[in-house]
Amino acid sequence: MEDMHVADRGIELDDFARAVSEGLSREQKELPCRFLYDARGSDLFEDITVLDEYYPTRTEAAILEQCSPEIVADTPAGAMLVEFGSGSSVKTEILLAALDKLGVYVAIDVSQSALDDASARIGKRFPGSRIETLVADFAEPMQLPGREDASAILGFFPGSTIGNLTREEAVKLLRHFGQVLGSGARFVVGVDLKKDLSRLLPAYDDAKGVTAAFNKNILSRINRELGADFDVGAFDHEARWNDDKGRVEMHLVSRHSQTVHVRGEAFSFQSGESIHTENSHKYGVEEFQSLAQKAGWERSKVWTDRDVLFSVHELVYRG
Ligand code: AVJ
Repeated sequence: MEDMHVADRGIELDDFARAVSEGLSREQKELPCRFLYDARGSDLFEDITVLDEYYPTRTEAAILEQCSPEIVADTPAGAMLVEFGSGSSVKTEILLAALDKLGVYVAIDVSQSALDDASARIGKRFPGSRIETLVADFAEPMQLPGREDASAILGFFPGSTIGNLTREEAVKLLRHFGQVLGSGARFVVGVDLKKDLSRLLPAYDDAKGVTAAFNKNILSRINRELGADFDVGAFDHEARWNDDKGRVEMHLVSRHSQTVHVRGEAFSFQSGESIHTENSHKYGVEEFQSLAQKAGWERSKVWTDRDVLFSVHELVYRG
């Protein structure tokens, strides 16, 4: 967050303090998952993506590698590739390698430094490529620079980031992407699939404890940034399948009854009481297609790995 003004940092902190106070006051205590991803949390998430148990990242990359010729087949010269929440743009390189004569790559992310690093790397690997960066929250209204001049628009939203959202929120976000990209645009989105819990749950509760550290980091962050007194060791990481909502939930479970203080407010925990910190929704292939349809997207193609762990969908906006 070195790219932030001092005043913005104050607003960020107030936003965090308000969210923590509100979330810990609920019947089911919760914290918004976006606060998991500070510098330390983002590093830990990077470590998660290469764990043996965490199949999504490598499976999606393999699908993209194998199917990229088909994925880009309908993309004419002079097209615009738009990535929402581009981060390090690692998966984008797979598409870029398969794309011939792309017009422009528009990378959208909240982090200026991530955009700078990614565009430097991509500029080196694909000399002569046009890259535009947009520092923005992809869920907010935005204007795509030069959308009218592009021969075609291809949206890209990999990583099953959509899994963080509830099904209702996902419909809203997909409609928003449709409005940003425009009628006739195509969209490639990575979506993690429902599967055996024996395969699914270890991906969110790995043997090395990296996911546990990632989850508990939010408590250390509250201590550090808001001067709270969480005893981080007094909480256990838990990954739970919620069958009703079709999602894996991450919780931090209090090992005993205790009271925690955050900026003058006291929050008590019973033994076994949890803070719900993140959701990871899982879909069936057709289930996701009909959800996308509710948002104005027509199903076009879909690719999965041989074990049907992960799906990459191509949709066309008819909204
Ligand atoms: C970033 C939402 C795709 O749900 O798999 C992984 C987040 N959290 N392990 C996921 C996550 C803990 C991840 N997404």
